[in-house]
Amino acid sequence: MKEILKKRHSERKYTTEKVSKENIDYILECMLLSPSGKNKNPWEFILVNDLKLIKTLADSKKAGAKFLKDTQHVIVVVGDESASDTWIEDASITLMVGHLAATTLELGSCWIQTRNREAENEDSETYVKRVLSIPNRLRVLGMLSIGHPVQVTEKEKSVNKGKVFLNHYGKAFYG
Ligand SMILES: Cc1cc2nc3c(=O)[nH]c(=O)nc-3n(C[C@H](O)[C@H](O)[C@H](O)COP(=O)(O)O)c2cc1C
Repeated sequence: MKEILKKRHSERKYTTEKVSKENIDYILECMLLSPSGKNKNPWEFILVNDLKLIKTLADSKKAGAKFLKDTQHVIVVVGDESASDTWIEDASITLMVGHLAATTLELGSCWIQTRNREAENEDSETYVKRVLSIPNRLRVLGMLSIGHPVQVTEKEKSVNKGKVFLNHYGKAFYG
């Protein structure tokens, strides 16, 4: 697990090679296995592989999604806030699971925030819902881009052990 977490980077540049159906299935099934508050599973996923639609999603926010225009696959994560008050946590877990599943397959992926973000003339959620025919009652948490990375990031990750306390906040766990 630690090795996968160390290996995972946000990869935003992909080749034009499609990800196999088998690998897309693997990632989606991993996401569907995610835990959720009270086991409500208040999420659903839209796999977008229509390149025209993906290019449109690249404009779903003012910044931070433009790289999608050269992406082959995007999984959009929606949540039903009327089904669970933990929908944000639940949907976030699925995105992270998808991110890690992609890493285990040596695929590149990147999380794109949609909730609380703005497109040019409307909020990002409204934009994405309109483009993908998502019912208005659902929320759009974010998206996961997936592809074969042009170049695998080799950056070494470090951990800040000063963020861990023992029993009382401020008492360092790691001396
Ligand atoms: C909640 C969340 C929202 C993010 N939103 C975006 C985004 O909209 N666009 C983007 O390019 N990257 C986004 N990222 C990726 C982060 O920028 C990235 O994870 C962070 O810089 C650390 O880099 P790393 O993932 O390579 O370790 C997001 C990540 C998280 C966890």
